[in-house]
Amino acid sequence: MLRVLVLHGPNLNMLGARETSIYGSATLDAIDTSLKKLGEDLGVTLDIRQSNLEGELVTWIQEARSDYHGIIINPAAYTHTSIAIRDALAAVNVPVIEVHLSNIHRREEFRRHSYVSGVALGLITGFGPTGYLLALRGLHEYLGSHESKPASHRLNRTRARKR
Ligand code: DQA
Repeated sequence: MLRVLVLHGPNLNMLGARETSIYGSATLDAIDTSLKKLGEDLGVTLDIRQSNLEGELVTWIQEARSDYHGIIINPAAYTHTSIAIRDALAAVNVPVIEVHLSNIHRREEFRRHSYVSGVALGLITGFGPTGYLLALRGLHEYLGSHESKPASHRLNRTRARKR
C-alpha cells in the first residue's frame, strides 16, 4: 500500500477563519477529510500533519525517507523563506508535490519565489482545497508508473546489488 505524508505549514490551522477572501471558507479539517476519502478510493494511506514550527516540519520530512513513498506539502509562509525545508525535501529523495491554495504568482512580489519548487516534482497553486486532491491524484499516478518503494529501501537494494 502506498504511503503519503501530507504536511501543512504555519497558519493553515486557521483556515476557514483566516483571510477568507484569499483562502476560502473551508477548514483544514474539511480539507483533510476530503483528502482521506480520496486516499481510501485510491488505496493510499495518508498521514496528515500540521505545524507552525519550521523545525518540526523539517523533522517530519526527514522521517519520510524511510516511511513514505511521497510527500504533499503546503509549506505556507515557509515556502518563501525556508532553505531548511528545501534542504530536508532534497535530502529525503522522495517525490514532492508543492500545493498552495492561492495562486502565489498573482499575489505580492515576495510570494512569487518558492524555495521548495526547485526540489518538487510538481507545483499546484491557485485551485483552493481542490489543489490537494489534484496533488494526491498526480502523485498516485506518478508512483504507479515509477518504482514505488520508500527511498531508504531503494538505497538498501542498490547497496545490496553492489555487494
Ligand atoms: C499559501 C500561500 C503563502 O504565501 C502563504 O504564506 C500561506 C498560504 C497558500 O496556500 O496559498 O500561508 O501557501
